[in-house]
Parts: sequence; structure tokens; C-alpha cells
Amino acid sequence: MKSHTQSLLTVTLAVVMATIDVTSAICMNVPTHTGVRTMQDNEYACAQLGAGETSADLGKSYLFCYQGTAHRFNCGTLRWDSKINNCNWPAEASCGGQPSDPGNTNDPAPSTAKPPTTTPPLIKPGKCNPQNCQLPDCFCSGAAPANVSQQDTPMFVMLTFDDAVTTTVFSRVYYQMLVNNEWKLWNPNNCTVKSTFFVSNQYTDYSLVQILYNNGHEISSHTVNHTSDTDIYSEAKSEIVGLRDIVAAKTSIPPEHVRGFRVPYLRTYGDAQYAVLRDYNFTYDSSIVNIEVQAGRKALWPFTLDYPIEENQCPNRPCPKGSYPGLWEVPMNGWIGDNGYSCGMIDGCSINGANFDGTVEDFLRFFRRNFYEHFYPQRIPMHMFTHASMFLKGPEALEALRIFLQELSAMNNVWLVTPSHVIYWMQNQVNNEELSQTSFAC
Ligand SMILES: *[C@@H]1O[C@H](CO)[C@@H](O)[C@H](O)[C@H]1NC(C)=O
Ligand SMILES: *[C@@H]1O[C@H](CO)[C@@H](O)[C@H](O)[C@H]1NC(C)=O
Ligand SMILES: *[C@@H]1O[C@H](CO)[C@@H](O)[C@H](O)[C@H]1NC(C)=O
Ligand SMILES: *[C@@H]1O[C@H](CO)[C@@H](O)[C@H](O)[C@H]1NC(C)=O
Ligand SMILES: [Zn+2]
Repeated sequence: MKSHTQSLLTVTLAVVMATIDVTSAICMNVPTHTGVRTMQDNEYACAQLGAGETSADLGKSYLFCYQGTAHRFNCGTLRWDSKINNCNWPAEASCGGQPSDPGNTNDPAPSTAKPPTTTPPLIKPGKCNPQNCQLPDCFCSGAAPANVSQQDTPMFVMLTFDDAVTTTVFSRVYYQMLVNNEWKLWNPNNCTVKSTFFVSNQYTDYSLVQILYNNGHEISSHTVNHTSDTDIYSEAKSEIVGLRDIVAAKTSIPPEHVRGFRVPYLRTYGDAQYAVLRDYNFTYDSSIVNIEVQAGRKALWPFTLDYPIEENQCPNRPCPKGSYPGLWEVPMNGWIGDNGYSCGMIDGCSINGANFDGTVEDFLRFFRRNFYEHFYPQRIPMHMFTHASMFLKGPEALEALRIFLQELSAMNNVWLVTPSHVIYWMQNQVNNEELSQTSFAC
């Protein structure tokens, strides 16, 4: 079985000083890197350097003006790049001398240190529609499965963990939840719940990977070296397929069972990534963010990349420009933090005004609110893409997760499964009642 992961631009939010102009929604008196100035609605800018920061820190934080309030985000080890309006590798990033123009979505693709060596991607002409794209191997972005009524559709929740599988995270998080089932979590057909691990190599203990797999969980690739600093096919291949090869060498997991991929930092290898995934028979990618709240969109079901993804549906560039028939994308539908802003990996969300910090009640409210308001009414698969490290900071998040998952487990139409299971169900749709009579995800 398979799926679940994460890694992400660690997007943290904090409101910075700004005055709200109710008539135009601009942000006034914002401390940007070019001085204190007015920002336009939907504009991005690098933040002013703080005390003790040097020019090397420029772009570590950036600002986003939204309806009169300037919000501050962090790029982690990356830096803001005004050319692509996203965090990028420091060597490629720049704040720009002029304020960036957020209205221009036709910015050129980021210049990269090395030219791509892949042949230009094949592009299927036209737009995806129900006539030219049909299950089992094609599914349009934005569509919903049609064979089962919404209210009889099983509600899928995909809990995934990114990065190394270490003794620490295994013994403190994974074991009781997903191996010995101390938490008593079952799906509606009475099988144990399933998760996906997007594994990177350094510090991973493969004997623990084997145990997770033996318990029905999915192992996916998150690269060997936890990097994606290139768009060269051969380099993308050695990182993406290399992790699968190491898993095959160090465990008895068949390489074809490593079916999924998530790119580190959600910074893709561009088309090279998707060409590798296609050429090496991966089933799905799960690297593309869908920030619906900031763009007025709704959450998406997984879809195939038969038709080029629209630029405005992929904020974490470089985005694939080609067609990859039959390759699935399991998008990272943004959750909504307590401050009303979207986050891809759930540990990038703002909780109670803090950066993923709070009481058990704070975390529970956050989990329940996203489930009941954002995903469950439409039965759109909800992801909980995260890192185990989120649950090591303090006992609160882990305790809230236990309570929340037990609540879900008590519902007879909620299934904790992997992205591969969700794709399988989309290709073989049955209603919740029927699914409960099968050995689905057992
Ligand atoms: C699951 O187990 C419960 C409790 O033992 C039982 O009532 C229920 O019928 C079982 N469901 C299925 C689908 O076997
Ligand atoms: C991982 O990084 C090491 C050290 O830079 C390098 O030698 C190795 O080739 C990389 N592995 C892959 C699969 O790219
Ligand atoms: C991918 O699957 C096809 C069809 O099953 C097979 O012919 C091909 O050898 C596989 N390629 C790789 C790289 O595993
Ligand atoms: C939907 O239902 C039709 C008619 O029963 C069936 O032929 C088709 O295979 C189903 N599709 C999926 C994806 O389950
Ligand atoms: Zn990662």
C-alpha cells in the first residue's frame, strides 16, 4: 500500500505592522526591503532585514498584501524570488530592485544555472474534458467522480509523513499509531488504517521502513539527498529513482511498489521530474500545491497530467509544462490556518496566532475545522501531509492527532488510506456501503 509524505516550504505567517485602507485593500506603511511603503493588494515583496541580519538573509522572509493586511512568510533555507513569486534556491533567487508585479502571471520561467537537457515536453492540444479524458487512466483537474452520489462517496483522509524514518520518529510517533495500533484505529471494513511515508535516505533506518511496509503502509520516494536543485533529467532520475533503488536493495519491498513521489521543499525539477516519473512507471506525484483560499478555488480530487496543468493552478514553480498521460497528481490542497491563510503541508499552518504551536484544544479545533468545513461536505479527499517532527515538539499536537483520528475512525464513512488507494477507488468506484464489504486497504 502506499502514500503520504511531506516536505514543504515552511510557510509561516505573521501579521506585520500595516494600516488597513478599507476602500482599496492596499497595505500602507509596510517595511519592505526597499523601504517602508504602500503595497498593492495581492502584491509580494521581500521583507526588510531585521536586526543582526545581513544581505545573505535577504529574501528569507517575504510579505504578501492581502485585503489590507500585509502577512509575513518565511522561506526557510530558500529565498524569495520575485521573478517567479515563490521561494527558490538562494543562487537563483532575487528580491528585485523594483516591487514585483504580482498581476503578471506571464513572468518568464526562472533562469537556471544549467540548461535543461530534456527534449521539449510533448503537449497534448486542447483542454481536458469528459469526452477526451476518461477513467481509468485519465481524469481532469477539477472534476469529481460521477458514479457514486456525493453522500454515498467514501470520505478519504490521506495522512502522510515526509523525510527520514528514524528510530526517534518511529518509536515516538509511528509505532503506536501505525504499527501496534495502540490508538485502536480502524477503517469502516475493520482493517487497520494506512499511511504513506515519503522517504529520503539520510538517517533512514531501512529495517523500520520494512516494518512499516509489512504493516500495509506505503513507501514512496522523497529523493536520496533531499534536494531538487536542478532540472536536468539524469540528475532528477538519480535522486527520484535512486531512493526506490536503495529501498529495493535494503528491504524486500518490490521496487514497483514504490509508486509515489514528493519533491523536497515542494520545489519541483520542472518537466524533468514528470518525465522521470512517467519513464519509471511511478503512479503518482504529490508535489503541486493548490492554494484555494487565496485564489478563490476549491479543493481538487487527484487528477492525471494528460493535459498541461494551467499555470495558475501551480503556485510552486517550476511547474510541468508538458503532458504526462496516465501520471496522477495528488495535489496538496491547502488547509486553512487559524489566521485564514492557506498552507500546503499542514505543519506550515498558523495555529492560534503561532507557528504550529498550541494546546491540544487548539490543534483539535484546527483539525476539525478543516475536516468539517473544507473537505467533508464535498467528500473531497482530505490530506494530512506533514512531518513527524511536528509531533515531537511537544505532546499537544500528538495528543490532538490521536483524538482526531479516533473520531474519524468512529465514523462509518471515513477511511484513512494512501494516495494509491484513493486513485484505485477512483478507477473502481463503489459506494461506501459496498466498499465496507470489501478488503479495500487491508
Ligand atoms: C466491524 O466490527 C464491528 C465490531 O466488531 C462490527 O459490529 C461490524 O459489523 C464490523 N464491520 C464489518 C464491515 O465487518
Ligand atoms: C547524493 O549526494 C552525494 C554527495 O553530494 C553525491 O555523491 C551523490 O551522487 C548524490 N546521490 C544521488 C542519487 O544523486
Ligand atoms: C514500465 O512498465 C512497462 C509496462 O508494464 C514495462 O514494459 C517497462 O519495462 C517498465 N519500465 C520500467 C523502467 O520499469
Ligand atoms: C462507472 O459505472 C459504469 C456503468 O456501471 C461502469 O461501466 C464504469 O466502469 C464505472 N466507472 C468507474 C470508474 O468505476
Ligand atoms: Zn522533506
